[in-house]
Amino acid sequence: MPEKKNKIITIIGLGYVGLPLAIRAAERGYEVFGFDRDEKKINLIKKGKSPFKENFISERKELLGKITATSDAGVIKKSDIAIVCVPTPVDEKFFPILDPLISAAEIIIKNRKPGQLIVIESTINPGICEEVIMPIFQKAGLKEGKDFYIAHCPERINPGDPKWNVTNIPRVLGASSKKGLEIAKDFYESIIDAPIKLMASIKEAEACKVVENSFRDINIAFVNELAKSFDQMNINVKNVIDGAATKPFAFMAHYPGRGVGGHCIPVDPYYLIERAKESGFDHKFLRVAREINNSMPNYTVELMQDLLNGAGLAMKGTAVGVMGLSYKANVDDLRESPAIKIISELKKKGAKIVRYDPYILKLSDVKNLKTFLQKSQAIILVTNHKEFMEIDPKEFKKNKIVAIVDGMNALPAEKIKKLGIKYHGIGRK
Ligand SMILES: NC(=O)c1ccc[n+]([C@@H]2O[C@H](COP(=O)([O-])OP(=O)(O)OC[C@H]3O[C@@H](n4cnc5c(N)ncnc54)[C@H](O)[C@@H]3O)[C@@H](O)[C@H]2O)c1
Repeated sequence: MPEKKNKIITIIGLGYVGLPLAIRAAERGYEVFGFDRDEKKINLIKKGKSPFKENFISERKELLGKITATSDAGVIKKSDIAIVCVPTPVDEKFFPILDPLISAAEIIIKNRKPGQLIVIESTINPGICEEVIMPIFQKAGLKEGKDFYIAHCPERINPGDPKWNVTNIPRVLGASSKKGLEIAKDFYESIIDAPIKLMASIKEAEACKVVENSFRDINIAFVNELAKSFDQMNINVKNVIDGAATKPFAFMAHYPGRGVGGHCIPVDPYYLIERAKESGFDHKFLRVAREINNSMPNYTVELMQDLLNGAGLAMKGTAVGVMGLSYKANVDDLRESPAIKIISELKKKGAKIVRYDPYILKLSDVKNLKTFLQKSQAIILVTNHKEFMEIDPKEFKKNKIVAIVDGMNALPAEKIKKLGIKYHGIGRK
C-alpha cells in the first residue's frame, strides 16, 4: 500500500456509496469524518448501527465507531480530501436533479481548506464537473490547481454482491489537473486493491459510468423485448439465452424480468440523454431502451390478469400477493423498484394487494411468509430474495394459490405447473 500523504478525509453523503467508502478509508487508517444532512442516519451511525442492511457494512460493524459521523459541515475544514457521494436522481419527467450535488459544492466552499482535493463519486453525466461544479468554485473566486483540485471517480459498487465491493472493484479516475489526478490516484491506490485507470480528462471518467449503466439498460431492454416476442411464439427466452451464452465470445447473457430498479440503471441513461440533447444529439436507442424497461411492470400485471382470467377469476377483488418489494435480491432498497409500479397498476385494476418483503417489513402487510401465503390467492414474484427461493412449491398448493407470475424467472416453473397452479414467467410459460 502506498504511503498516505493526505490523512484526513470527509465523506459527504453517508448512503449506500458513502458509508462503505468511509468504512474502507477508516479500515486503511485514515481519520474519517462523515457529513450528512440526515440527522437520523448520523445518530444511528454514532450508535454503531448501519442505517441500511448491507453485508459489507455488517461484516465491518466495529469500524462504524471509527467514523466521526456528523451533521456539522465544519469538519470539511479539517480534511485534506472531501469526497461527495450525494444522490443524483431524476424527477417525475426523468430530468436530472442536481440540487444535492450543487448544495454539497456550496457547503464545501463555505468550509473549505486551501489546497483541498474534492472528489465527486456520485454518478453524473459528462460535463457536470467542468460545467456545473467548477463554475460554483470559480464564482467564489477560487482557482483550480491552487485553491482546490477536482477529480471524479465514479463509484461502481453493487450492494448485496458477495464478491465485488469497494475494496476490489477497479475504478476509473479523471481530474481537472495533473496535480489533482496525482493526489486522487494516491488516495484511491491506498484504499482499493484493484487497478485504477487514469482517464485523459474528467469528462471521460464521467462518461464511463453513464456508458456502463446505459450498456446494461440497453441489453436488458433487448432481452425484455425478446421475452415479449418469444412469448407469442411459445419459445422459452431463458433457455434461448442460456443456449446463446454457450458461444464463448461476442455474447453476454442478460436476462428479462419485471423491470429494472435501483438508483442507477433506470436513472443514469437519462443523464446522458438530457446532456446529449443540450449538444443537439438525440439518443434514440437509449430512449427506446428506457421505454421498454419502463413498460415491464405493467406487462407483468397484464400477465397476472390473463392467468386469473384463465382461472375464471377477475383481478378485481382477488388477493394478489406481491412477493418482494426491493429492486433486487437480499437488499432493503426500494428506490425505483418495479414493485412500486406493479402495486399501483394492481390497485388501479381493483386487486386486493398483500405486500411482503422480509427486508422491508415496515411496508409489508404481513409479518412473515406463512401469513403471506395464507392471505394470497395469486402471487407476483417481484424480488428473488433467498427466503422466496427456498419455498417448497407444495406450499403454494397447500395455501390454495391459483396463479403465479414469476417476475424474475426464478421459481421452479415445471414443479409449480405440475401442481396444477397457473404459471407465467417473463418470456417463459
Ligand atoms: N446505490 C448504488 O448501488 C450506487 C452504485 C454506484 C453509484 N451510485 C451513485 O452514488 C451516488 C449516491 O448514491 P447512494 O445510493 O449512496 O445514495 P443514498 O441516497 O443512499 O445516500 C446519499 C446520502 O447523501 C445525503 N445527502 C444528500 N444531499 C446532501 C448534501 N447536500 N449534503 C450532505 N449530505 C447529503 C443523504 O442524506 C443520503 O444519506 C448517486 O449518484 C448514485 O447514482 C450508487
